[in-house]
Amino acid sequence: MKPVKVGLMGMGTVGTGVIRLVEGYQEDLQKQVGSPILIERVLVQDRSKARRYNIESEKLTDNAWDIINDPEIDVVVEVMGGIETTKEFILAALERGKHVVTANKDLMALHGTEILAKAAQKSCDVYYEASVGGGIPIIRTLIEGFSSDRITKIMGIVNGTTNYILTKMSQEGASYEEVLKEAQQLGYAEADPTSDVEGLDAARKMAILGTLGFRANMELADVQVKGISRVSKEDILYGQRLGYEIKLLGIAERQDDLISISVQPTMIKKTHPLATVNGVFNAVYVHGEAVGETMFYGRGAGEMPTATSVVADLVAVVKNLKLGVNGQRVFVPYKEKKLKTDEQIASKYYILLHVADKAGVLAKITQVFAEHEVSLESVVQQPNATHADAEIIIITHDANKASMGKVLASFESLDVIYEIKSVYRVEG
Ligand code: NAP
Ligand code: HSE
Repeated sequence: MKPVKVGLMGMGTVGTGVIRLVEGYQEDLQKQVGSPILIERVLVQDRSKARRYNIESEKLTDNAWDIINDPEIDVVVEVMGGIETTKEFILAALERGKHVVTANKDLMALHGTEILAKAAQKSCDVYYEASVGGGIPIIRTLIEGFSSDRITKIMGIVNGTTNYILTKMSQEGASYEEVLKEAQQLGYAEADPTSDVEGLDAARKMAILGTLGFRANMELADVQVKGISRVSKEDILYGQRLGYEIKLLGIAERQDDLISISVQPTMIKKTHPLATVNGVFNAVYVHGEAVGETMFYGRGAGEMPTATSVVADLVAVVKNLKLGVNGQRVFVPYKEKKLKTDEQIASKYYILLHVADKAGVLAKITQVFAEHEVSLESVVQQPNATHADAEIIIITHDANKASMGKVLASFESLDVIYEIKSVYRVEG
């Protein structure tokens, strides 16, 4: 039984987990794939750094080409992160006929098409299960489990940092700034949390899920993105009173051939299963024409959950090697991408307005909705605790995005409205 040799690029959080699993579960893995799996070389930046797992020092290298140019290495497992240099390494490895497993959503969302094309050309595998949802096997599920169905909607809580922040704000009444600071101290949020809190990390993951779900090539630029940095304690409190939680939701929808895809803080009914996904957990809800509703839940990050997905991909590559079918199972989108216009994107909306507390205010506001043919589900007025004016919370029926934009533009020039405090999409 000739061993399958792996070049591991990265021995940080995920890379350490990969070594632990491959070495710790070696017997089980061998039984499944029929040969030993050996971590042959490990790429790091700093060879002198103390490691959390003991590894023979001669396996460590700080030169990626030691792995890429080693003819003995069959599979490159990329868990170092980064985009341009990493892309160069992966393309060079594929060029030399090596199969690739990666956890890198940034790379796959931006350069997935080029990488998958190179893999197909060289009859190599590229697997990237850990790039979305960490330990949740959602990519394999979309490609294989839903191959018999036509997906109409994917909604995902795919960023653990923002879900942790929103959960704490909801459960403890804390402010965004307070919880973000705590998340950084606990090591959940990066020192620079911009890509998490502004929704970019989730947008990259949704581009990947949208491509797989709708079998059309969704790019990052196709995702309309809004982060959570402006979500207030008040928004959360008012949402709760009306029976909603606020979650950073990725929403990809298809009607006939038309697709829309977005990431935004969304008011979701407390009775929806996504509303109960708390803390750093992730979940992906998938609706298929035939299967109806399904949901997948688990840890979206962390050493061992993420390593589980990476090593499962490694097992898939080795099984393909045994069968001689590498490169034949690469998913290639085959549908034409047709994006919805703002006139075609419909949802319910929550709007919080700070208004004058006098006769005729509601009439003026409802007149604007009527002019743009937006119908209302509920209107609640309440006195404001800090000033003599009033606040009005409006929930609309399904309204198209273009009409809502016109309503909000008209509100800007309406004298009885002092401030449009919040606008959220409503789901569930
Ligand atoms: P990490 O802890 O920062 O580890 C990165 C590793 O790569 C380190 O061992 C580092 O070397 C090495 N490295 C980085 N740049 C390098 C370079 N230019 N040349 C050589 N070595 C380099 O990162 P991570 O959290 O494990 O994440 C790795 C990847 O998995 C990323 O793409 C991330 O998005 C993805 N991912 C992570 C998670 C998670 O929970 N962490 C979840 C899902 C996906 P040193 O050790 O010498 O510094
Ligand atoms: N920063 C990401 C998150 C890590 O918070 O979910 C996993 O991709």
